[in-house]
Amino acid sequence: MSEVIQIHDKEFKIFIPSEYIQVEVHSLANKLEKEYQDKNPIFLVVLNGAFMFAADLLKSFSSSCDISFIKLSSYQGMNSSGKVEVTMNLSIDVENRHVIIVEDIVDTGLTIQELKEQLSKLNPASVEVCTLLFKPEAFKGVEKPKFQGFVISNKFVLGYGLDYDERGRNLKDLYQLKE
Ligand code: IMP
Repeated sequence: MSEVIQIHDKEFKIFIPSEYIQVEVHSLANKLEKEYQDKNPIFLVVLNGAFMFAADLLKSFSSSCDISFIKLSSYQGMNSSGKVEVTMNLSIDVENRHVIIVEDIVDTGLTIQELKEQLSKLNPASVEVCTLLFKPEAFKGVEKPKFQGFVISNKFVLGYGLDYDERGRNLKDLYQLKE
């Protein structure tokens, strides 16, 4: 594990090592298991950023479930554009189903807010959010995610699925912008 890495024009320092991430992900999976074990939930994974988190989380969730994917975009470079665009549509019927949105990070919260609004029109039994990272200082949404892993400061992070202009997603540790 390198302490400092360069991605494009920026330097990033190690923030949360893989071992800590794995412990937190298992703990989240246990909480989900307790709440959803008899509910056959749909995990709706928000691409691209949540792919690594979702893979680890769902390996630890042993009850019956469906897994589906959706692609949204509101981020360019290091800033949220504020406009959420749905770039890949829902491919599963969510009516009367319990849906858990799986996100890598909730920053302004605008992405999940938009997604929740769109989903609620399809009459699901319930919709909750499970995010690995939550930045409360940046949050502008209405409802905070029910399942949160690490609560972090308002600094740009990458690794473990999260990118800076498409780089860094493959790193197993989380890094934070070095100032
Ligand atoms: P929100 O709509 O502002 O909550 O942004 C959500 C999306 O923005 C996430 O799913 C990420 O793809 C991206 N994002 C937000 N903060 C960061 C960050 O610190 N690093 C990398 N991507 C981020």
